[in-house]
Amino acid sequence: MTQELVTIEINDQPYTVPKGRLLIEIADEHNIKIPRFCYHKKLSVAANCRMCLVDMAKSFKPVPACATFVEAGMKFWTNSEKTQQAQQAMMSFLLINHPLDCPICDQGGECELQDVSVTYGQRHSNYQGIKRVVIDKNIGPLIATEMTRCIQCTRCVRFGTEIAGMSELVSLFRGDRLEIGTYIEKSLQSELSGNMIDLCPVGALTAKPSRYKARAWEMQAHPSIAPHDAVGSNLELHLFRKAVLRCVPRENDSINETWLSDRDRFSYQGIDSPERLRQPLLRRQGQLVAVTWQEALQAAASILQQADRSKVAALANPNSTLEELYLFQGLMRGLNIHNIDHRLRQIDFSDQTLAPLSPNLGVSIAELEQQQAVLLIGSNPRHEQVLLNHRLRKAALQGAKITAINPRGFEFNYPIAQLFVAPSALVKRLASLAKASLVANQSAIPFALVELLQSIDSTEADQTLVAELQAATHKLILLGNLAVQHPAYASLRALATVIATETGARLGYLPETANTVGAWLAGVLPHRLSAGRAVTPAGLAVTAMLQNPETVVLLNAETADFANPAQVSQALAQAHNLIVIGAFADQPLLDHATVILPGSVFAETSGTYCNAEGQWQSFQGAIEPIAQARPTWKILRVLGNASGLPAFTWLSSEEVALALTAELDAAMGNYPSYTLNDLPTLQALQLASATEAEFERVTTVKLYREDGLVRRATALQARVEDTVVELNPVDAANLALQAGEHVQISQGELSLQLPVRISNDLAPGTVGLAAGDEATAVFSSVGLVRISKRV
Ligand code: SF4
Ligand code: FES
Repeated sequence: MTQELVTIEINDQPYTVPKGRLLIEIADEHNIKIPRFCYHKKLSVAANCRMCLVDMAKSFKPVPACATFVEAGMKFWTNSEKTQQAQQAMMSFLLINHPLDCPICDQGGECELQDVSVTYGQRHSNYQGIKRVVIDKNIGPLIATEMTRCIQCTRCVRFGTEIAGMSELVSLFRGDRLEIGTYIEKSLQSELSGNMIDLCPVGALTAKPSRYKARAWEMQAHPSIAPHDAVGSNLELHLFRKAVLRCVPRENDSINETWLSDRDRFSYQGIDSPERLRQPLLRRQGQLVAVTWQEALQAAASILQQADRSKVAALANPNSTLEELYLFQGLMRGLNIHNIDHRLRQIDFSDQTLAPLSPNLGVSIAELEQQQAVLLIGSNPRHEQVLLNHRLRKAALQGAKITAINPRGFEFNYPIAQLFVAPSALVKRLASLAKASLVANQSAIPFALVELLQSIDSTEADQTLVAELQAATHKLILLGNLAVQHPAYASLRALATVIATETGARLGYLPETANTVGAWLAGVLPHRLSAGRAVTPAGLAVTAMLQNPETVVLLNAETADFANPAQVSQALAQAHNLIVIGAFADQPLLDHATVILPGSVFAETSGTYCNAEGQWQSFQGAIEPIAQARPTWKILRVLGNASGLPAFTWLSSEEVALALTAELDAAMGNYPSYTLNDLPTLQALQLASATEAEFERVTTVKLYREDGLVRRATALQARVEDTVVELNPVDAANLALQAGEHVQISQGELSLQLPVRISNDLAPGTVGLAAGDEATAVFSSVGLVRISKRV
């Protein structure tokens, strides 16, 4: 549809612009300055601050530019006397109650009110009365409040309802008593709450962790990429005296728009954690002792050279950079070690040879919000991929039909149909939907799925869901973390493929970490080399290689990063040698490490992350690695030299990335493709289901406990929920348990005492026990647990 163009005048200059656009948007595009406080391009128009008043022809009163839609022939003056008078008057009103505390305000130097008042205000105030004082609120560990400074622009309030999907800050009272606050004093819970700090045009909401540590003009901005989820949010690290003092979003409309998740914003606090590995360590006479880099590298190289190659387990965290991952697999393969993997939380690898080159979204991030129907399988995107969830929320609010099939219910912040069943019933639930899609098209059951599908009868609800998917033009099926980590992942993927094929939807993945896509491309896999090239014979996958390893090499991984931390601890205890390369090491690693090579975090190295849509984003290190730590890619490069690998000659991380690019180019797109025809027959995996005494464990990793850096970010840790045992109300009643009561939860010989939470988000016969804490690390993430009342 072509947009009607009209001609208007601003400051006596003609502009041809689309009819109906907001005057403030046109002014911004043409670099015509109009002051504003309540207007924000990503929020609805409130027009309550009146700071953007401009003089309009044929109007007695000036009009707000943020609420004026242009029509042909309109004329505006943004700098006439009438405009200036209006702006000065509004500044006076806004400053009536605002304290003159700029010298002690953390926002000083980057405050919109300060800037606008200098440019558009008056030298003196005519106000002689008493200023209003508003009592501060404690809204949690991330945001500090000084509510007397608030000018009630309501950006934070609108952000909550329109973007975060949680109405946490609200307008209380009326008129000159109006205050912004929470109805009851409580911490903000939104995973996007930190964006309110950026939105607040004054110093009412400031970042608590960095408060009073430096003035805005003393910091240097350094562009970087977020290291946690697969969004690859663009951000700026603000440096003060060679340390990262805070982190803010860098606008990129196709990725993170103007937003940043709290995880990406505050995880920088882990960079100088006391738990950082600071110097090379070598075990001598049972103790880890500090040694030189040369000694540590020689020790690591000699362990690798002398190891029985078939008994080496080489495991990398997929949140490592592309360069680190490429060098890691190059090092191992150069030494003829093939037990290499990055899928630390995955259990089922039975269809790995047919997996696509890399698990990505299948559409661009921006396209997510254009979907009309989305089926999420095994995913809580609000925690897994905060800003992809924001895109899905936009789609839902525009009318998209979103359905989630999960092993438990989650708190979504948009309208969604949730279907949740016990983990052991998940395959059957999806099979029912797949059968409905085959029946709708009168298609034959694919050979590999005959056993799974022939005895399944689909329900009417499934048929309706299939019809909705078929009717939509833009539709997507997404496999999330809980699907990938399910013991019958191959079946879930095959069934999702059937539904996608029969409904014409695209099948995509919500990759688990910042560089899961990159780990696949770099070939940190037992069955594929870099660029997706097959390797025969394949090495062992993560669970198999940890059965009885003699040598373990960990890159940026701790036991808490695995599906079964207890199995990893046991493997480390049995192994003769453990080489740790990374920035952090949890207790089992410290107890068993032979050599520790202290590496970098994202802010201390150059590198590349490949995000969910497959976009490579490179960044430079902002600060030097802590103490004696070194950029991890350099450690791997030098370890390659020490191990006698002649190909390890790269001089920069850019050269390493180029080597992988060349391999991908040489592969000429000749990558493996996932086809149902090649799948071996899939059988219904008989997962143990609940009995009278036992319950199926449903495991999700706690938000802010997913990786080493986040686990050390102190402010975020204050937001981590207490560990509880979640039970369905029926099961709780059968066990005569009340909320808050302590129970004994056991798996095998191990038990814990934890309080109970009663939740309608659990299916009967299941128990919710989140992973990510030291306490629960003793349990496997899947399988049965026993619950008994504490006596
Ligand atoms: S706290 Fe800040 S963002 Fe919220 S209404 Fe007040 S001035 Fe606006
Ligand atoms: S910016 Fe226009 S009224 Fe506030």
